[in-house]
Amino acid sequence: MSVFILPKIFSIEGSGLFKGFTDWHSHILPGVDDGIPDMESALQVLEYYGQIGICEVWLTPHVMEDIPNETADLKQRFDELLAAYKGPVKLHLAAEYMLDNGFEQRLNDNDLLCIGPKENKMLLVETSYINPPIDLYSTIALIQKKGYKPLLAHPERYIYMTDGSDYERLRAMGVLFQCNITSLTGIYGKEARRKFSSFLSKGWIQVLGTDIHRLESFNYAITQKYISYRERKLLINVEN
Ligand SMILES: [Fe+2]
Repeated sequence: MSVFILPKIFSIEGSGLFKGFTDWHSHILPGVDDGIPDMESALQVLEYYGQIGICEVWLTPHVMEDIPNETADLKQRFDELLAAYKGPVKLHLAAEYMLDNGFEQRLNDNDLLCIGPKENKMLLVETSYINPPIDLYSTIALIQKKGYKPLLAHPERYIYMTDGSDYERLRAMGVLFQCNITSLTGIYGKEARRKFSSFLSKGWIQVLGTDIHRLESFNYAITQKYISYRERKLLINVEN
């Protein structure tokens, strides 16, 4: 008689990974970008976060040429959300900065919302998924020269970045990686999943985020898609 042992798989939600989790990347601040559109929906998301055990969240609205959010407006919206939300999830405000033509001016003006402990001066930054910025490495060096630590948003999603050169070079420069936990379910495609898995095995992931834009799609990814036992084990070890 042969015995088949099926591999253990988990949904992210079912794996217990969200118990005590800090979400380092979200678009929950309502009505400021392509994320959650209004206050009522933002409160629903936060209620759901509370239910699944997420205890802290960084609100990281887009700041880019196409979505030119001003720091003062984001702070005001954040205060409105703080006043409206009465639940247990701890909220923090930062932003996700696109490394485009408008970024350097903000950097020169120190007009930036940092992420993480204040003294670390970390900045969550992204690029286009498809095309590299004109000079990515010079911009990274400039950010560091100004005293900030770049935390690259979802590095696994950039299709122009290659294993052999880009990622190792960024790591060697001291760039920190924030990966989207849902990449591991394959919702962004096989390549993003493969890259995430590779970063995870190498211990290259500093922090995890959801990059949530809509509750429905997030809920689908974390309850209807699966990760392996080994992946779950590695994810638990990512300091978060
Ligand atoms: Fe994002």
